[in-house]
Amino acid sequence: MSTGHTPQDDSTRHAALGGLGTQARGELQSEIWMQEGAKRVEQVMARLLCAEHDGETELMAAMRYATLHGGKRTRALLCLAAGALAGKPAHMLDEVGAAIEMMHACTLVHDDLPAMDDDVLRRGLPTVHVKFGEATAILVGDALQAHAFLTLARLDAPGDNRVALVRELGQAVSAEGAAGGQAMDLSLVGKHVDLGRIVAMHRMKSGALVRASVRMGALCAVAEDASHAALYRALDRYSARFGLALQVIDDILDVTADTATLGKTAGKDAAAQKPTCASIMGLQAARQFALDLLRDAGEAIAPIGLHAERLAQLLRRAKAYLVQHAPCA
Ligand code: IPE
Ligand code: IPE
Ligand code: MG
Ligand code: MG
Ligand code: MG
Repeated sequence: MSTGHTPQDDSTRHAALGGLGTQARGELQSEIWMQEGAKRVEQVMARLLCAEHDGETELMAAMRYATLHGGKRTRALLCLAAGALAGKPAHMLDEVGAAIEMMHACTLVHDDLPAMDDDVLRRGLPTVHVKFGEATAILVGDALQAHAFLTLARLDAPGDNRVALVRELGQAVSAEGAAGGQAMDLSLVGKHVDLGRIVAMHRMKSGALVRASVRMGALCAVAEDASHAALYRALDRYSARFGLALQVIDDILDVTADTATLGKTAGKDAAAQKPTCASIMGLQAARQFALDLLRDAGEAIAPIGLHAERLAQLLRRAKAYLVQHAPCA
């Protein structure tokens, strides 16, 4: 498996880290960890989706377009972070992270379709159906989903482990997960609903894949047995809060950030009459809700200690993103 960096990178990094105080040094190391992790996962996706395997068809080109151009890679990084819980990065994590990001890209491509959110911009580029046509965009989602499962099925791991990973990912995008949440999202357009309904929808449409990303990373590192029950409970509490926070932040930034910052059309939720946390609670209360969720997620993993540092770091990144793009009134 590629390490994604060279000895030369290491010496440059050591020189850069040497002159810093402890906190700045920690932050720079965190930043490097995220960039390198995202890069390795992108390299795996590029390899899995390269033309050599399946010939250079428009469908393959569209699949690469949907996956290899940007995105914060939050779900892959959650997988890598949970996969480091045993104190060292577990085997196979980059492939598992790639499978998760391909599945995430599938949900985005379908989410943007005219029959769903009808969006023309994603990650700063025309959406897949705008660039390649609607039929191809539907097939891109189908094929990315298949590639995500294939990647897990082909892992160099015992059958039980592969089945567990496939089960986690399947559950996350099932009618009880993202697909069900997306159906609920569409059914609520133009309706007045209470916060409980929105939270239930967010937990399914976005939270389920976030939970799976954490669990899949953890499953690569630490067996889910009786001796690790408390660890898995802490991770589930963390991911439930973090997953919800990410969608609440997305709802807020749809209102407060501009199209150039988001890389997707700002103000879409209000224009499409989507009830969101921002529309129901108001911006400031929604912002506080997100901050509270991030804090609670941090509390959930505090007992794990040092090995959960990467998971804590992803909370800090989400908070910084919110604070930067939705400053307090
Ligand atoms: C967008 O997810 C859709 C949501 C579930 C909020 P991200 O904000 O993680 O999108 P990318 O992957 O960074 O583009
Ligand atoms: C989509 O939520 C969540 C998915 C399951 C893809 P949104 O519709 O709010 O995501 P964006 O704002 O288009 O990225
Ligand atoms: Mg949507
Ligand atoms: Mg959308
Ligand atoms: Mg949104």
